[in-house]
Amino acid sequence: VPAPPPGPLDFNGTKLVDDPEHPWMPLQPGDVRGPCPGLNTLASHGVSYLPRNGVATPVQMIQAVQEGFNMENFLARFTTYSAMLLDGNLVTDLLSIGAKTSLTGRDPPLPALAGGMHNHGTFEGDASLTRGDAFFGDNHSFNETLFEQFKDFSNRFGNGFYNLTVAAELRFHRIQQGIATNPQFSIAGFRHLTAYAEVTFPANLFVDGRREGCMKGQLDMLSAERFFRDMRFPPGFFRPAKPTATEGIDAVLAAHPVQPGANDGTSVDSFTVDESLGSLLDYCGFYTQFVNTTIRGLYPNPTGVLRKNLDMNLQFFFDSLSPGSNCTQVFPYGQP
Ligand code: HEM
Ligand code: MG
Repeated sequence: VPAPPPGPLDFNGTKLVDDPEHPWMPLQPGDVRGPCPGLNTLASHGVSYLPRNGVATPVQMIQAVQEGFNMENFLARFTTYSAMLLDGNLVTDLLSIGAKTSLTGRDPPLPALAGGMHNHGTFEGDASLTRGDAFFGDNHSFNETLFEQFKDFSNRFGNGFYNLTVAAELRFHRIQQGIATNPQFSIAGFRHLTAYAEVTFPANLFVDGRREGCMKGQLDMLSAERFFRDMRFPPGFFRPAKPTATEGIDAVLAAHPVQPGANDGTSVDSFTVDESLGSLLDYCGFYTQFVNTTIRGLYPNPTGVLRKNLDMNLQFFFDSLSPGSNCTQVFPYGQP
C-alpha cells in the first residue's frame, strides 16, 4: 500500500545541502539517470536524498526534492504523482528517474507502461532546454550543442547568467526550433504545463539560497554545468531560502505566449493549436483530461491491488493540485 505523501519541511530555510552526509559519487554500472537534472543530482548525492540506482518511491522523491532543493510541497507532490501515474509501477510503488528497468519490479498489464522517465510522450516531452527531442534519437542525455545554446542565450539576455528573462527567450526559441525541425513536435496537454514550469527551475531552484538582492535568481554557467551535465551540486551549495515553486512562470508565458498544440506528424512547420488535453492556460481542463483520457488510456481496466493503488495515487494527485484552482474531482473508475 502506498504511504501518504510527506507534508512540508519543518525547517524550511536555506542550509548547506552539499554536505558530508550526501557525498557525490560517479555512476556505477546499473545506475539509472534521466532527463531531469534535479532528480539526477539528488540520486548522485545518494541515498539519504535518493537511492543511487535512480529508482525510488514517491515518498522518497517528495522528501528528496524538498530537503535538497526546498521545492514547495504542493509542487513536489503534483510533479511526483503525475510522474508516478504516467511512468511508475503502481503495484510496487516504484518509479525510475530514467530508463525502464526491472528494478521497478514486474510490470502491470499493458497498455500500462511503467516506462520510467525516459518514456517519451507521457511526462518527458519536446523542447527541453538541454536534451534533444525524442524524434532526433536521444531525449534524455545532456546535449552539448543545446547547452552551448543555453549559454549563448544566457550571455545575450542575462549578462552571462540564466534568469527568468533568459527562460522566456529560450523557452520560445526551443519551441520555434522544434516546430521548424521536428515533424512530430508536440507541446499539447501536460507538456504545455511542464515546458513552462521547467524553464523556471534553473532560476528558482539551482541558485544558491544565500544570494540576495540583484544576484537572486541569477544562475552562473559553471553551476549550470554542474547540475545539467555533472548531476552534482556546486561546491558548498545552499538550497533556496524558502519553499520555492514556479515563481515567474506567468511572465515567461506572457513574454511570448504559445498555445498548446503539435505539428501534424509528417511535416515540419505544420503546428496546429490543440486544446483538447488542457494546458497551463486551462488547468482544470488539463486535470480532467489527464485523469479521464491519459491515465484511463494507460489503465483501462485495473483490478485488485493495481486498482486500489491507482485510486490512492489519483487521490494524492488531486490533493496536490494548485491551491485555489478549485477543480472538480473526477473518478474514472467510479468512486473508490
Ligand atoms: C525536467 C521530472 C523535480 C529541474 C524534467 C523531466 C522530468 C522531470 C520527467 C523531463 C521533461 C522534459 O524536459 O522533457 C521531475 C519529477 C520531479 C522533478 C518527477 C519531482 C518532484 C525537479 C527539481 C528540479 C527539477 C526539484 C530542480 C531542482 C528540472 C529541469 C528540467 C526538468 C531544469 C528541464 C531540463 C531541460 O529542459 O533540459 N523533470 N522533476 N526537477 N526538471 Fe525535473
Ligand atoms: Mg524532453
